[in-house]
Amino acid sequence: MPNVEGLTSMKKKGFFICIEGLDGCGKTTQARLLVKKLRQMGFDAVYTAEPSCGKIGRFIKKYCLHGEKRVSVVVEALLFAADRFEHIENEILPALDKGKIVVSDRYIYSSLAYQGAAGLDLKWIKMINKHAIEPNIAIFIDVEPEIVLQRLRRKKSVMENLETQRKVRKVYMDFVHKGELVKIDGNKPKMKVAKAIFEAVSKAL
Ligand code: TMP
Repeated sequence: MPNVEGLTSMKKKGFFICIEGLDGCGKTTQARLLVKKLRQMGFDAVYTAEPSCGKIGRFIKKYCLHGEKRVSVVVEALLFAADRFEHIENEILPALDKGKIVVSDRYIYSSLAYQGAAGLDLKWIKMINKHAIEPNIAIFIDVEPEIVLQRLRRKKSVMENLETQRKVRKVYMDFVHKGELVKIDGNKPKMKVAKAIFEAVSKAL
């Protein structure tokens, strides 16, 4: 097994796409549609997601996302970073090394947006994710927080959630403005959104 430096500097043969957005923006559906379309085009594409299905990812789902009480945001950020590195090591890099197209439903921008919105310094989040490989293209499916909350029909305090979702979207939008994320209008019908994503990916492929 290569060491950490070897791993992150390893030449990627495949193509790495990540799909980002607020909860309820349709990102899982779109990531799966993209994989399907790429396969129809003859590419060897695979779907993957964060939190991952590895041990740390499962731990996050159980104790951070569905636990009784929210863990500290620093712990959250560290766990997501640890899960990400396992995800890269065990799933993303082996697939890229075989020349596959990897479509990840969430990646580092989720940590920057969610843990950043919860008050953590973006530089520190980037630092603990220093060994995360860069995606070839990062897509942000943009849906207004109000719409997303209606879709999710959340039971918690609507204002609290709306406030959080707005903060998360703001961080994502800052990366759109920096040119790191490609914004796709997620308010359109499902297949139109899928077409826009496929066009953006095709340009980058
Ligand atoms: P999901 O709904 O896409 O499965 O994502 C699960 C939740 O995890 C979602 O609310 C966003 C959150 N999350 C973070 O807060 N930081 C991260 O780094 C990742 C990958 C997810």
